[in-house]
Amino acid sequence: MLVLGIETSCDETAVGVVEDRTTMRANVIASQIEIHAPYGGVVPELAARAHLELLQPTITEALARAGCSAADLDGVAVTAGPGLAGALLVGVAGAKALALALERPLLAVNHLRAHVDAAQLEHGLLEPPLLALIVSGGHSSIVRVDADGTFTQMGATLDDAAGEAFDKIARFMGLGYPGGPVIDRLARDGDPTAFDFPRPMRGNGLDMSLSGLKTAVVRDLRRMEAAGEEVRVEDVAASFQEAVADVASEKTIAAALQSGIGTVVLAGGVAANSRLRSRMQELCDEHDVRMVVPSIRLCTDNGAMVAATGSNLLAAGRVAPLDVEADPGLGLALPVP
Ligand code: KG4
Ligand code: ZN
Repeated sequence: MLVLGIETSCDETAVGVVEDRTTMRANVIASQIEIHAPYGGVVPELAARAHLELLQPTITEALARAGCSAADLDGVAVTAGPGLAGALLVGVAGAKALALALERPLLAVNHLRAHVDAAQLEHGLLEPPLLALIVSGGHSSIVRVDADGTFTQMGATLDDAAGEAFDKIARFMGLGYPGGPVIDRLARDGDPTAFDFPRPMRGNGLDMSLSGLKTAVVRDLRRMEAAGEEVRVEDVAASFQEAVADVASEKTIAAALQSGIGTVVLAGGVAANSRLRSRMQELCDEHDVRMVVPSIRLCTDNGAMVAATGSNLLAAGRVAPLDVEADPGLGLALPVP
């Protein structure tokens, strides 16, 4: 079973090909970072326009790398939401056209589920129930995945998403966009104990709050600047990253212990963060919980993860109608279609 997956929800035009649900045959990503970097964040109109230009060549390259032709495909999967409306539309329209022309089923994929399903491309099909920590540019949730395919949110951020917090802090410090990878890199040479940043809502339920942490970083930096004190950005990066890693991993372990679920999947762009990965592993080892995390290139947005979820939908016979619409606000609990 060969499924092609198209991802255009944000700033990567990405196409992957997956065979039999777990084997990645191709994963091509055309990044738009250079287009958006001068603006310090994603410009939705520019993203949609770039997807329009890049989608067709990216599909062609993915098929070439997979060593197959479009006629060999058994299904066409696409991210239907959540994401930027104009950006999603390009992928959805392209996928519909391809599915129609090839007379193959269309699979409408929830982007957040795709982040979780990315794990099956390296670890094989995972046995539910599972817990997933989904941390990306737009979402931060702790989710329970059950055998019937339902995703139930157990906790979520009350304000900023984890990736958003990384990006905002990086922007404030003038480090560029996207902020997560830059902070991760700088943190390697920093002291995570240099600043005692708050761990909001620690020990208090499964919801998270990150805007207070962000405000604390900004306040400390302003105070030091006013006092003429030298700021080591590496120390700020390491201390901030440590606080996010503490909050996210402690909440996830609390959810695992509370639900008795023995496997935790780390998913989404922020799951690429080196300290979050190591902190989560430390806590999982301590509590005898299995941690599953995709390699870094499968954590950030990609087409193979969309093909993985599409393959699961196809195997379950959950084909989308050709008039399915992009849904920018698609919720986690709602399966597509
Ligand atoms: O999942 P993703 O690629 O796109 C969305 O669905 O949002 O996540 C993008 C987010 C950005 O906020 C980016 O700064 C963050 O993931 N990110 C990281 C790292 N790599 C990407 N955050 C922390 N550390 C990283 N190494
Ligand atoms: Zn994503």
